[in-house]
Amino acid sequence: MEAVGQLAATMAHDFNNILASVVGYMYLMRRKVDDPALLALSDKALSVVDRGRRLTSRVLAFARSDDLVTAAVDVRALLHGMEDWLRQTVGGAVTLTVAADEGVDLVATTDASQLELAILNLVINARDAINGTGSIGLHAGVQRRETADGDLPAGDYVVVSVKDSGSGMTPDVVARAFDPFFTTKPVGQGTGLGLAQVGNVARLSRGAARINTVEGEGTTVSIWLAWG
Ligand SMILES: Nc1ncnc2c1ncn2[C@@H]1O[C@H](COP(=O)(O)OP(=O)(O)OP(=O)(O)O)[C@@H](O)[C@H]1O
Ligand SMILES: [Mg+2]
Repeated sequence: MEAVGQLAATMAHDFNNILASVVGYMYLMRRKVDDPALLALSDKALSVVDRGRRLTSRVLAFARSDDLVTAAVDVRALLHGMEDWLRQTVGGAVTLTVAADEGVDLVATTDASQLELAILNLVINARDAINGTGSIGLHAGVQRRETADGDLPAGDYVVVSVKDSGSGMTPDVVARAFDPFFTTKPVGQGTGLGLAQVGNVARLSRGAARINTVEGEGTTVSIWLAWG
């Protein structure tokens, strides 16, 4: 996976530079054109290039999640620090609540920027799942696992969860949700890298990510990070 990640990062980086040159030449060309039909076509071309640049930046962010720069992170502070930004992301019609357990250190050894990106990815998924109206609840707390659960060893964890009142997922979708490039969204709207990034961050923080979902009722995705 690491080699694939590096290859993807190199390709995405070079590809981004290629797209940047295309944009540059297109703007030069537009200066010499005053035919509205040609300008409209070049608008279309520019917006497609823009989609390409967004895709490559997603691939880059995903590739970087394979190589975390870890430090002790105060997850409560991180979550509260994101609140305004998340509210803007989901829009006014959505109720977004953020809560963190008090009286306990919510500290995990992880990569703060990658954890922020993971939380943002979960909130964007929740927003898409509720399709305009509904609620999204973020919570952070400490949980103890007395026994191992698959790839999650017994121990203490800081658990960040994002719960939505959205569409939920079918068992088929749950089974593939963490796979890189798996998406059910239309072309141009999803790259299928959001949950793959979430899974990487959790795994490399000595934890795992979990999905609890009920079709038609909603979904909770949790990031388990080894405590301390
Ligand atoms: N909260 C959710 N509710 C319902 N389905 C979800 C939720 N989160 C993820 N999914 C499903 O899992 C799929 C994969 O999610 P993931 O975040 O990896 O990719 P994406 O959202 O499709 O694209 P990207 O995040 O790269 O823009 C989604 O396409 C969707 O079908
Ligand atoms: Mg997503």
